[in-house]
Amino acid sequence: MAERAPHGAVASQRHDGILVLTIDNPPVNALSADVRRGLADAIQAAQDDASVQAVLLVGAGRNFIAGADIREFGKPPQPPALPDVCNAIEASAKPVVAALHGAALGGGLEIALAAHYRIALPGARLGLPEVNLGLLPGAGGTQRAPRLAGAAAALDLMLSGRHASAEEALSLGLVDRLDSGADALAAGLAYARELLAQGAAPRRTRDATAALADRAAAQAAIDAARAQVEARARGLFSPAKIIDAVQAALDQPFDAGLRTERALFLQCLDSPQRAGLVHAFFAERETAKAPETRAAQPRPLERLGVVGGGTMGAGIAVAMLDAGLPVVMVEQDDAALARGRARVEQVYDLLIKKGRLDAAGKAERMARYRGATSYDALADADLIVEAVFEDMDVKTAVFAALDRVAKPGAVLASNTSYLDIDRIAAATRRPADVLGLHFFSPANIMKLLEVVVGGRSAPDTVATGFELARRLRKVPVRAGVCDGFIANRILAVHRQAAELMMEDGASPYQIDDAVRAFGYPMGPYQMTDLAGGDIGWATRKRRAATRDPQLRYVQIADRLCERGWFGQKTGRGFYLYPDGARTGTPDPEVLAIIDAERQRAGITPRAFDQEEIQRRYLAAMINEAANVVREGIALRPLDVDVAFLYGYGFPRHRGGPMHYADQVGLPRILADIREFAPQDPHFWKPAPLLVELAESGRTFASLNHA
Ligand code: CAA
Ligand code: NAI
Repeated sequence: MAERAPHGAVASQRHDGILVLTIDNPPVNALSADVRRGLADAIQAAQDDASVQAVLLVGAGRNFIAGADIREFGKPPQPPALPDVCNAIEASAKPVVAALHGAALGGGLEIALAAHYRIALPGARLGLPEVNLGLLPGAGGTQRAPRLAGAAAALDLMLSGRHASAEEALSLGLVDRLDSGADALAAGLAYARELLAQGAAPRRTRDATAALADRAAAQAAIDAARAQVEARARGLFSPAKIIDAVQAALDQPFDAGLRTERALFLQCLDSPQRAGLVHAFFAERETAKAPETRAAQPRPLERLGVVGGGTMGAGIAVAMLDAGLPVVMVEQDDAALARGRARVEQVYDLLIKKGRLDAAGKAERMARYRGATSYDALADADLIVEAVFEDMDVKTAVFAALDRVAKPGAVLASNTSYLDIDRIAAATRRPADVLGLHFFSPANIMKLLEVVVGGRSAPDTVATGFELARRLRKVPVRAGVCDGFIANRILAVHRQAAELMMEDGASPYQIDDAVRAFGYPMGPYQMTDLAGGDIGWATRKRRAATRDPQLRYVQIADRLCERGWFGQKTGRGFYLYPDGARTGTPDPEVLAIIDAERQRAGITPRAFDQEEIQRRYLAAMINEAANVVREGIALRPLDVDVAFLYGYGFPRHRGGPMHYADQVGLPRILADIREFAPQDPHFWKPAPLLVELAESGRTFASLNHA
């Protein structure tokens, strides 16, 4: 690790004939305007100073450089531009060496590729992750990476955005050598001295030819990447531009290639997708900073417990075991416990079958798993997640039992989907230790964790919930108590919008198509079939008595469930799944049932086009989200965005429903709702917050920093 420089974003220090430039811009040495200016000035100074024989670039702190300063995107550009800085480095008449440790990402790697020699330390991570932000490497990366590593490897890095290790970077030709030490400055100085002793001259990546010498192979790699992107990119803008830029690296002289790259980069920079992806990047970091995480320290989290070994309990146990923690699972009786353990093992067996885990990995995890049928086994647990049936009486009985056995200070959490955390907490003598931890199914895979804060949850209880999320590598979102919290509450409303459209004339297949065309991986009816129609059916029956009689209740899904058509697992639901197929095909019988239901309800079906389906689906979502924000259930609009990105696969390049609404314009969304209202006035009620923002010309984003 290099020492922090004493002053400035870029510090210059002489070590004999070597000018060491230390980039020092905490927390990650992003390439802010100050850093770019500092580098450009120092490189110029090195040219003018006859006593400088070579230049060494190192990063202070834990990283070399993590990339462009993402906060500057969308603001007026400040000189010098990063491509100019890279070109000045490459043009240096004196050898420039980059010593890489920690993150060397995006513009950071582009700086390194413009240097003449590169050395990497163990643990260095090299990557061109711009695609994750809707961009392409715009400072020569698309031209220099293929010249060093070849088209196939460069495309793989740029299209996946993944990080390569130092060892892999060496094998790809992105760096020249590895050091085994921990000191970038020492490693870089030793390498620079050796180069000087050999009389090494500048060696410019722009002149490298070997990696692209086999033009046919390079063209084949480009064609293959293009075919793959066309099949999989689901409307993403920048992947195709990355490929265009690499094509230019093959076809054009270096300077022309740079100009092509620049033009493509600017197209990406201006795209709404870039704005959506950058919003998502910062939003998901913000949600982790709930007020309680600032106000209190988390309690210890060494031993965990789970009550219930069903779908969720087993998935939660797997998530905990995967994080290296010991878990006790409590079930009602031996048979249910055996099923719970079998569900856990099944997850690992499937991973073994796919080659993603070995037997030793499973054994190591299962050694930390213990099952029990007595609550006494939870006496040592620091945190216990309850995942039993969704029934208030069952939950309160479980919490009363936990209250008797759990040690003082243990955090007691419920994974309830809809029930009132405050009532559950009231079943104990320690409501301050109780909160909701709402996982999403499958709990070992889905990243979202709603941390539901009850009226009496103590700050350190809440902070412990956030700490658990960190340990489990989940994305936590703070939620207040209401029916369904953030994600399920809003989901119920836009699902209702879909139901209304279906009864009014849209087929479930049209609705799924429209939702997929918006960018979701699957539509709502495909999701129902995947999760099992019986789950929603049970919820609907449970809530029948308390349903608002003024809201239209669409019975189509009930008709399918009455026939035992629960989706994939029963071979048919909204779709047919012949012979265990995983993708469904439309079912004419379902369409006949829908027709019959329309007749029963006295509805004459009308046509819906894709655009109207999308407008209704999203307007319902955004409207309810505005209520969730106004009631303080979500702290800010960005918390809703993150919940939707990670809970339901809302297309990330659209930033989340609130960011999307801002992009469309709140007056447009409000006008849509007012247009739909006459048909279903009880359903389409403009949210007061939406009205207030739209009519005062403000945005949801204006509430993110309040
Ligand atoms: N610009 C501005 N801020 C950044 C940043 C960047 N490139 N990268 C990270 N940060 C900020 C984060 O927002 C966070 O700030 P807060 O503490 O205020 O929330 C802080 O740095 C620490 O970040 P993490 O919490 O993510 O820390 P980590 O240790 O878990 O991860 C990292 C570090 C691997 C560098 C990770 O932050 C990361 O992947 N960053 C983004 C890297 C990237 O995408 N670079 C490419 C930028 S685009 C580019 O370079 C385009 C071009 O060619 C012009
Ligand atoms: P499930 O029916 O698959 O599992 C519940 C398990 O709890 C059963 O194995 C049962 O034997 C056990 N159980 C019941 N009473 C018990 C008791 N007193 N002590 C110990 N174990 C007991 O249910 P599922 O789907 O796992 O749901 C559990 C909870 O998670 C519910 O509150 C549900 O609302 C919530 N949830 C469910 C999601 C889903 O997609 N299935 C998603 C998020 C939350």
